[in-house]
Amino acid sequence: MMDDRLQTALTMAREAGSLAQEMRANPGALRTQIKGPLDLVTAADHAVEALLRKRILGFEPGVAILGEEDGLEGAGRDVWILDPIDGTVNFSRGMPDWAISIAFSDGTEITHGVIHAPDLNLTAWAIRGQGSFLNGSRIVFDDTQPQTPIVALGYSARRPVAGYLSRIERLLEAGVEHRRHGAATICLLGVLAGWFDAFHEPALNIWDAAAGLLLIEEAGGVVVHNPLAHFLGAPSDIYARNRALPQLDEILTASAP
Ligand code: IPD
Ligand code: CA
Repeated sequence: MMDDRLQTALTMAREAGSLAQEMRANPGALRTQIKGPLDLVTAADHAVEALLRKRILGFEPGVAILGEEDGLEGAGRDVWILDPIDGTVNFSRGMPDWAISIAFSDGTEITHGVIHAPDLNLTAWAIRGQGSFLNGSRIVFDDTQPQTPIVALGYSARRPVAGYLSRIERLLEAGVEHRRHGAATICLLGVLAGWFDAFHEPALNIWDAAAGLLLIEEAGGVVVHNPLAHFLGAPSDIYARNRALPQLDEILTASAP
């Protein structure tokens, strides 16, 4: 029998995806506001987060919820971690690279993760210890070498541009391509799907990464981030990779500004 928490996360992710798509189809409903440098929020982000919170409260009232738009509600070790729309800028411009990210943590580790990308028809889920699945197929990384190594990179306005540029430089010198998707969840999903060999982004918030990091770990990949207790309260540099190119570790985790 499927885990109830996972089933709830999958059901509400799909409902949330449809709500966001409906709102985008009616531009009058998609009011947008600038939150910060390169950072946007739309009425759909707020509506989706409200829907997810309502569904969680109906499923297990009293459990804490941490969401990008409305912060932390409740207390305790257990916490649901929500990004109602990751890749809001892409979403608002009609691009397909955005997703709903839902994770659950018992305070010690991330135990459940779901990423649902409705425009891409991709849904991935994982429970700790039970593997990663993409549209129902189990994903297990192996060490097959790609002919065209590709790393997905994120940029954070919280860090100097020089660090981002130096990572690109080091990758190109090593014969490795890079891509920037503007949605951390899609980059992590892309590692799972085999589009990319690794993902790196500095100073990422936990709601952007929690579900995706579990997906990569459960597929047998490597993830690097601050300890969870710290990451729950502050952004962390994120590095995640499959098993093909361990040599990327040196390039992507080397200290940079
Ligand atoms: C953002 C995206 C972007 C990343 C930012 C995130 P949002 O999330 O994942 O790719 O570079 O750090 O904040 O604001 O679209 O949910
Ligand atoms: Ca978001």
